[in-house]
Amino acid sequence: MSECSSLASGVGETCAKVILFGEHSVVYGYSAVAIPLKNLKMRATVKRANAPIASNASNASITSITSIADEKNSITLKALDFCGPLQNAPKRLDSVKTAIYKALQFANWRGEALQVETACDFPPERGLGSSAAAAGAVIRAILDFYSIEASEDELFALTQEAENVAHGKASGLDAKATAAARAVRFFGGEFSNINIRMHAWLVLADSGCKGQTRNTVEALRKKRDLNPHEVDALLEQLGKIAISAEGDLELGRPLEIGLKMSRAHEILAQLGVSTPLLDALVRAACKGGALGAKLTGGGGGGCVIALAQSCEDALKVKLALERAGAVKTWIVEIGG
Ligand code: PMV
Repeated sequence: MSECSSLASGVGETCAKVILFGEHSVVYGYSAVAIPLKNLKMRATVKRANAPIASNASNASITSITSIADEKNSITLKALDFCGPLQNAPKRLDSVKTAIYKALQFANWRGEALQVETACDFPPERGLGSSAAAAGAVIRAILDFYSIEASEDELFALTQEAENVAHGKASGLDAKATAAARAVRFFGGEFSNINIRMHAWLVLADSGCKGQTRNTVEALRKKRDLNPHEVDALLEQLGKIAISAEGDLELGRPLEIGLKMSRAHEILAQLGVSTPLLDALVRAACKGGALGAKLTGGGGGGCVIALAQSCEDALKVKLALERAGAVKTWIVEIGG
């Protein structure tokens, strides 16, 4: 975007996350645990652009932030293989678009031309929280550009507005975890941090298929409408697993965590949000030496996570996952 130049820029940083326990059930208020992956970063920068790219709108027709930005083409976005005026951004960037509008509104934006750019260490649409991370980073960068302070609660609320565009009705777990310094628990309707007092390794494996969070959340909602007793019983089990796993994390019991991960995967598969490839990756990880494994995030594609007790085991699990078809793998040290 060579037409843009700046003297000052605003920056915002968030990170990927994995849901260790409680995806889907958290949408219905059950407990969950998620871990921020501080080494997989999402960064956003905001700079003043030289001038609006084009302007054919009269001020009289401008009634909102959205229309100012769209009619004057005053925001350019460079994110996830897209580069151009914000209003031309594809549907997959709707949540980033919402994040930009909400942050501009918060910052009392006056219509000046801006360039917003994101860069990311991890793939989008893989259950790693890229939509929440991108929204959170863009919001922080815009507020930083205008030197506007916002509380954690305000940043969370702005990110959630964007997340609701991405997921329908998001639980808030991604918005919290992608901006958190430590593991996050959801319990009794509240988020808080937990300490992981065990040294272990998580192996992440990308199935190479896009996660389908919006679709799986919607499909599960329909399934629950049809079979409320059966589905609620499974969701409740996922919530109970999350609660008991919190204790294991705080007391350092990796074997129990591994067993609970595999059990959670079985339940998620019963709920219909896994795929044959995700199931095969989970099996391969366990055969390759993992203490347990499961899908993470919305499912229908995306990633699996496997727990290993040592770095050597993690390397073996990583190899097993690659042999079983993972297109990319990462090893992340937790606790310790
Ligand atoms: O696929 P992700 O990373 O966006 O995670 C979705 C997690 C769900 O529990 C399925 C939805 C939610 O809003 O928590």
